[in-house]
Amino acid sequence: MEKHIPVLLVDDETAFRDALARRLDKRGIEVRQAGDGEEALELMSQYPAEVVIMDVRMPGMDGLTALKHIKANYPSTEVILLTGQACTDDGVAGMKLGAFDYLGKPVELERLIAHIDLARERLTRRREAEAEAEFRAQVSERMAAAERLAALGTLAAGVAHEINNPLAIISESRGWLETRLAKDAGLSPETRKAGELALSKIAAGVERAKQITHQLLGFARRTDWEVREVDLAGLANEVVDLVKKTAENSGAELISKVEPATHLWSDPHGLRQVLLNLATNGLQAVNSGGRVEITAGQSGDRMVIAVRDNGVGIPKENLKRIFEPFFTTKPPGQGTGLGLSVSQGIVDKLGGSIEVESKVGAGSTFRVILPKRPPVAPLSLEQGPWGGGEEAS
Ligand SMILES: Nc1ncnc2c1ncn2[C@@H]1O[C@H](COP(=O)(O)OP(=O)(O)O)[C@@H](O)[C@H]1O
Ligand SMILES: [Mg+2]
Repeated sequence: MEKHIPVLLVDDETAFRDALARRLDKRGIEVRQAGDGEEALELMSQYPAEVVIMDVRMPGMDGLTALKHIKANYPSTEVILLTGQACTDDGVAGMKLGAFDYLGKPVELERLIAHIDLARERLTRRREAEAEAEFRAQVSERMAAAERLAALGTLAAGVAHEINNPLAIISESRGWLETRLAKDAGLSPETRKAGELALSKIAAGVERAKQITHQLLGFARRTDWEVREVDLAGLANEVVDLVKKTAENSGAELISKVEPATHLWSDPHGLRQVLLNLATNGLQAVNSGGRVEITAGQSGDRMVIAVRDNGVGIPKENLKRIFEPFFTTKPPGQGTGLGLSVSQGIVDKLGGSIEVESKVGAGSTFRVILPKRPPVAPLSLEQGPWGGGEEAS
């Protein structure tokens, strides 16, 4: 917010204005002065005042006109009008236009100061109410988002569980068909080829569906969380090995710069999954010749693991959505939209947080910030990564 000055005094009688300003100043009230409505508006545009004390009858732009402008452009500014003795009508008109109050001239200093105090009090109360309302709105929005996520997570885990059974049947039957196809001597080469192609498509489809249910179930329902000393360099190398193929395919490079003997206490399976998801995302974001780097460093009693890529970056409008389950910008077959939401859930559970920094065209850095030792008690191990309770299986 811009800097506000406490009081702006507007009157065309210089001597009166100076004297009043001096007396207010003596009482600790900082005052700026203007000689007419226009000058007042000019000053307001530079230093909006909290309270304006303004004469009504002035040459040039009069007080009521200036009041209208002030109320329109600075609705929170309170205006106290000064009216000639025989001019209460001016004051009443001013009140209708939104003036805080009006005082007849000659001005009684104590009354004026009391009015200024009241006006500033009202302003403070209004600001507090606004801040409170904004805070409430933010909290309820965050709670609604967390609830949505929890509900979605529970639902997704349930669906994944149900899908695993038919998936197993499809997979088994495919295997049986494959055997039959291989043994059947009576098939024409065309039919055999077409059959093999269809079976390989089924296999690929099953594989993809399994990937999804694995992401959802493996971590939504995990009950075997174990916190132990983890060799982070070893873990990062494992991850590099696991996605080496993806890296080679896209002509990109994935390297771990984690120093040997970097240790922290955590759940190694959860952590591996997080790094795997982040590294995969990084590789999918870079073009051939791109680079993804895993680093780790201690910051106070926290461990910061960073996965940085020089890929496409994330547009601002997507940044707030990337942790939502099923949010993906990738074509089907490449993305499930689960990697980050699952990772977020795991990291939450390990007492940490994930931060993102990204610039379109320049790349992204995902930082996983973990306690060197996760809190033991608050980890409720029977809950899924989205915080939802475990449902009956
Ligand atoms: N390193 C990254 N660079 C650019 N975009 C990213 C990166 N990581 C994640 N994203 C964006 O976040 C989305 C969600 O990521 P994720 O949850 O892992 O799901 P998926 O990778 O399956 O799409 C991605 O589709 C992509 O738009
Ligand atoms: Mg991903």
